[in-house]
Amino acid sequence: MKLIIRDNSNDVTEWAAKYVIKRIKEYNPGPDNYFVLGLPTGGTPLGMYKNLVRAYKNGKISFKYVKTFNMDEYVGIAEEHPESYHRYMFDNFFKHIDIDPNNVHILNGNATDLKKECEEYERKITESGGIELFIGGIGPDGHIAFNEPGSSLVSRTRVKTLAQDTILANARFFDGNVDAVPKQALTVGVGTVMDAREVFILITGASKAYALYKALEEGVSHMWTVSAFQQHGNTMIICDEDATLELRVRTVKYFKDMWSVHEKLNELVSEQAMRKLVL
Ligand code: PGA
Repeated sequence: MKLIIRDNSNDVTEWAAKYVIKRIKEYNPGPDNYFVLGLPTGGTPLGMYKNLVRAYKNGKISFKYVKTFNMDEYVGIAEEHPESYHRYMFDNFFKHIDIDPNNVHILNGNATDLKKECEEYERKITESGGIELFIGGIGPDGHIAFNEPGSSLVSRTRVKTLAQDTILANARFFDGNVDAVPKQALTVGVGTVMDAREVFILITGASKAYALYKALEEGVSHMWTVSAFQQHGNTMIICDEDATLELRVRTVKYFKDMWSVHEKLNELVSEQAMRKLVL
């Protein structure tokens, strides 16, 4: 697992956008070779989407040959509801770029047969050739997508009941009304994300510091589902300084030193290459 530490959340999301652009360009997608991207919602990636939209508007990147699969969606709220993840994705990203809406995949939380909807979603991912780069965020309890503590680490796309902590945390998006927060969601499983060829996790803020510590310094546990990625061969976490508050000084130093060597060896993500990339 790689850990990249940036000064603050703006640096994290700018770096993340640059990394996504580099990966898509390097892949050189075309009509017979789509780049398949897994995407999160939430507060953390908002800056990344803003930077990607800016880069698109400045002619730096096209999403014409990109297919996307979102991580999750609430059950039982209308797609046009201001808090639906459909709405979030179109308002913050898709409506501003040149992606073909047919290539956008978001779970339908209003499907009559939710189980079938989840099975179809897995099938569509497989049919697309699997996910090249899965971008994720985490909750303070270490959940990835809606894989709450106790979720199976080999889980697939399914209906999940949300943890009380998540419902409380999300109440802020529903005028503070806990009763209005949906209690179930459709979510990709930990196993679904594990199948991606690369996983890229954005973690910012002191409220996620304990989860980052659990993800990195302790063992794999279904009580901190993000820790599963210790067993993924190609996972990169990017975090800000605040998110490192619960890590040992030794761990932070280790990853910072490691990164400075790594970036010299790896042109793709070298500091210099990233700086040259204007959004
Ligand atoms: P956040 O949510 O980016 O709004 O903190 C992430 C999550 O709960 O998965």
